[in-house]
Amino acid sequence: MSNHSYFQRRSEIESYFDRTAAEAWERLTSDAPVSGVRATVRAGRAEMRQLMTGWLLERLGRQEPNGESKAHPLEKITVLDAGCGTGLLAVDLARLGAQVVATDLSPKLIEVAERRHPNDLAPGSVCFHAGDMLDARLGRFDVLMAMDSLIHYAPEQAMAAISTFAARVRRTMIITFVPKTPLLMTMMAVGRLFPRSDRSPGVVPISETWLREAIEQAPALRDWSIGRVQRVSKGFYTSTALELVRS
Ligand SMILES: C[S@@+](CC[C@H](N)C(=O)[O-])C[C@H]1O[C@@H](n2cnc3c(N)ncnc32)[C@H](O)[C@@H]1O
Repeated sequence: MSNHSYFQRRSEIESYFDRTAAEAWERLTSDAPVSGVRATVRAGRAEMRQLMTGWLLERLGRQEPNGESKAHPLEKITVLDAGCGTGLLAVDLARLGAQVVATDLSPKLIEVAERRHPNDLAPGSVCFHAGDMLDARLGRFDVLMAMDSLIHYAPEQAMAAISTFAARVRRTMIITFVPKTPLLMTMMAVGRLFPRSDRSPGVVPISETWLREAIEQAPALRDWSIGRVQRVSKGFYTSTALELVRS
């Protein structure tokens, strides 16, 4: 992947989320009423958060000696929420005890996330940060969560990002991609008929077969294997979660 094309794409995404869509995104991620199209997206996104969180709990959640789930089953687990938007997933994970660093290109969305930051997360925590999720200075983590952030990049760029994360993540990575299906391609074409403000910025669908092969062949992912893969489809929201586990 050339750095030039990554930086160019990153700057388009930043400009979309920080300017064009910041208010719409703030509303979508709140309880305020939204249009029918956006209501389906909101519902689909809630289901996706639940799915990703559930996978993490099953994989790393700690239990009491009697087998019951702990109040904070992710206590002491460190998580990078890459492309956190207004921070919904980061806060869900911190409520379960995780120590989350949540980063997003858009300073405006980070401002919203900080304003909404609940003050009763202990022993969990979230530290919000405006900047690139690939910045090595963010450090190393047990877990990487990238919900609907890599979906804006070309497949090769998304793969390069996953390979970069792999060197900094100890246990599990859960990413999402938009599956390249005939139905979705039709919906994207129909979506172009909606007003510009109702559209997401150039999502790039990826074929699951292509992604699986690319993961299997990536030298940086030699120690990793694909775990669960599951699609969430609700109205105008379609995204697939994919779990990578260090073997
Ligand atoms: C569709 S939103 C999803 C936000 C959040 N993950 C959620 O599901 O609520 C995609 C987000 O990824 C962020 N993003 C994309 N590329 C990024 C990068 N290189 N570094 C940090 N954030 C990025 C965008 O700014 C945007 O807020």
